[in-house]
Amino acid sequence: MSTETNNMVNGHSSMNGDISSDDDPMPNGQFDEGKNMEEEEEDTEVLKDPFCDPEHPRQIQFQDISAAAYKIKNGVQKTPCTWSTMSHHFKTDIYFKKDFLQVTGSFKERGARYTLQMLSKEQKARGVIAASAGNHALALAYHGQELKIPVTVVMPVVAPLMKINLCQQYGARVIVKGVDIGESREHAMRLGKKQQLQYINGYDHPHILAGQGTMGLEIMDQVSDVDAVIVPVGGGGLIAGLALAVKSLSPETLVIGVESERCCSFSNALKAGKPIYTKASSTLADGLAVPTVGVNALATAAPLVDKMVVVSEEAIALSILRLIEIEKAVVEGAGATGLAALIQGKLPELENKRVVIALCGGNIDTTILGRCMERGLAADGRLCTFTATVTDRPGGIAELAKLLAQMGASIKDIYHERAWLKADIFSVQVKVTVETRDKEHARELEQALRAKYAHVYWGPQKDCNKQECM
Ligand SMILES: Cc1ncc(COP(=O)(O)O)c(C=O)c1O
Repeated sequence: MSTETNNMVNGHSSMNGDISSDDDPMPNGQFDEGKNMEEEEEDTEVLKDPFCDPEHPRQIQFQDISAAAYKIKNGVQKTPCTWSTMSHHFKTDIYFKKDFLQVTGSFKERGARYTLQMLSKEQKARGVIAASAGNHALALAYHGQELKIPVTVVMPVVAPLMKINLCQQYGARVIVKGVDIGESREHAMRLGKKQQLQYINGYDHPHILAGQGTMGLEIMDQVSDVDAVIVPVGGGGLIAGLALAVKSLSPETLVIGVESERCCSFSNALKAGKPIYTKASSTLADGLAVPTVGVNALATAAPLVDKMVVVSEEAIALSILRLIEIEKAVVEGAGATGLAALIQGKLPELENKRVVIALCGGNIDTTILGRCMERGLAADGRLCTFTATVTDRPGGIAELAKLLAQMGASIKDIYHERAWLKADIFSVQVKVTVETRDKEHARELEQALRAKYAHVYWGPQKDCNKQECM
């Protein structure tokens, strides 16, 4: 493990008590992390998760999912699965399975609760540990508190503060450690071994898969004659459980997985026939950025998944925007990739079919949501930026503003540049961001500007003194 970059430990809720080894939280509820680190440095043993063994991948069975459904029915919401007016636009009968409405904002509660319920009495008393930057951590923390099982979550330093705080509020012990989820996982496994806390992989533990599968059971119960279910894919836990549930009840229903093009690890694993490392770059669908998918998840899902597609960042942003505007639903990037696949035209075969799209998480930072909306508006042709060189004589900018008003474009931002311009001394460059109705309107505006001004640069600009801007 690389050096520690940050370290934060919260008070361990007293309800989580009943832990008695030497390395346990100190009496005041703080965990002696420094001491632990020194000991840890000598510990170079490569730890394995016995529940996720690449040599012996496990395929879960349909009865595991029914057992999970029975067990969690009083602790996890049966979320609505409702028809959407977007159906008209896409010429597809669309239903949204709204798992972002779970208490902690994601489907992860299904697997988390079932896994916690299935622990032995002794393990329930000792507690569990997990590494997660978000939804799995929140789900475990919340249900751990509900079921009075101590939960420790190790979160990478990049985890959003909001999620760290929420996990603490749900009574979990939170350790912020590791530059990425890989490092957090290593730390969690070591700490788990030391303190006899069971490590729970959020996308590959067999009980997690079974729990996630309950979403598939609900979908088949809520909507009749489903032609296809579209599911976001990260480590593969959700698609594994869901595909098993759906195919067991309706073998002809298609199961389609969607990944971000910035981390298509599941598609790569399917091609390779085994989980292989795929470098993940930053994506709006951060919940899906799992570089190596789960071994049990892959073994269970591989024979059942009909198709995988990848979507662009632009389509994800647009999907988030559409869900807010039309569906009145706040959905995070990972949860919005299913609709993104339709937006990007990746599933033409679904026209005139009945399709359920899993909207499986709503935990999006407000600041990121703002940026997504702007990107979505830009992708939709409703937010445009251009630079025009206009005369510096009195009224030059007023004339430009008048043209924009005539065209029905609303100015959001305007900035003019004089000193650094290398062109005509009597010119000024004006950079404008405008709101337009749609792509067609934006095109008309561009044409009107080009008809009036000799130098128009349409789109975001890199260097205004380059010839293309003149
Ligand atoms: C909102 C959301 N959707 C989908 C997924 C993908 O689930 P899995 O990792 O089980 O494939 C995740 C994973 O964290 C998620 O947070």
